[in-house]
Amino acid sequence: MTRIHKVAVVGTGVIGTGWIIRCLAHNKIVYAYDKDLKLKKNLISEIKRTWPYVKKLFNKKSINLKNFKFFTTIEETLRNADFVQECASENYALKTKLMSLIGKYAKPNAIISSSSSGLLPSRIYSKCKNPERTMIGHPFNPVYLLPAVEIVPGKKTKNKFLKEAKKFYKSISMNPIMVKNELPGYLSDRLQEALWREGLHIINEGYATTEELDRAIEDGPGLRWSLMGTFLTFHLAGGKTGMKHMLEQFGPALKLPWTKLKAPKLSKKLSSRLISGTAKQAKGKSVAMISNIRDQYLVDLQKLRKKYENKIRG
Ligand SMILES: NC(=O)c1ccc[n+]([C@@H]2O[C@H](COP(=O)([O-])OP(=O)(O)OC[C@H]3O[C@@H](n4cnc5c(N)ncnc54)[C@H](O)[C@@H]3O)[C@@H](O)[C@H]2O)c1
Repeated sequence: MTRIHKVAVVGTGVIGTGWIIRCLAHNKIVYAYDKDLKLKKNLISEIKRTWPYVKKLFNKKSINLKNFKFFTTIEETLRNADFVQECASENYALKTKLMSLIGKYAKPNAIISSSSSGLLPSRIYSKCKNPERTMIGHPFNPVYLLPAVEIVPGKKTKNKFLKEAKKFYKSISMNPIMVKNELPGYLSDRLQEALWREGLHIINEGYATTEELDRAIEDGPGLRWSLMGTFLTFHLAGGKTGMKHMLEQFGPALKLPWTKLKAPKLSKKLSSRLISGTAKQAKGKSVAMISNIRDQYLVDLQKLRKKYENKIRG
């Protein structure tokens, strides 16, 4: 059981909205704030758009919008919250300033977590007055459907609060990944970033379009990845002796200059290839229309995955 029932979400863009929907679906009281007050309207329409998928995934009957309140000041938003999930823009200076404010107004025993995708917690909490109860809680988009959350401690974070955060995230049907010590990019984004950087090089050099690279993932590795990560997948690629044979066969390839990893310059030419390439892939469908298709797919996929994942991990 978790003591955390009242959650404050600071920053209600893509990720903040996702946390709000997930928390409301799990009967938490949610207080929200964004410096852009117009976002309140977007939020309600996004809750309505996503509810059919959220409801199906978590077997819920209804969502109680009375549990949700959008405030116009950060002080009021934090006043009664047991847990603060910060979701403002990814920027060291902005987050450091915001965390100092959050530390000032949060309740004495409130846990403070940031959705950052890779910034170091010790840096963003350097001006926060209670660093022992601060951490990163890095989710994945769409937060209302995907269960992963990386919990990353800062140098001063106390174990007790990490354990409480883990319980809280479990109470909203997430599968927390406990990262031992802070590192830039954490775990999953380090992996995603490697793929992204390599893809940018390939597009920059004109070897493939965004669509061709997406198909190269969607029809092959992507299908396997939702059940098994890279390591277990490669264990199977080694035949009867698994990883041992895989390393004997493909180990030497590690010396070939296949990957570049250092990111290419985001030039105008590269940006326009990315923007026009993905617009072409969208085939005139809006982001909301594609999100609906993705959300329905993620619900069905997770239901199917449940049947198989216990066989592998159990
Ligand atoms: N988009 C993703 O796929 C993704 C995934 C995981 C984590 N994240 C992380 O989540 C955080 C938010 O990302 P996003 O994609 O939702 O960005 P976004 O641009 O959609 O939303 C950011 C919001 O923060 C608000 N904001 C900025 N300064 C603020 C302040 N001082 N006080 C209150 N609100 C403020 C902005 O008005 C905006 O609505 C970032 O740290 C990002 O790295 C993003």
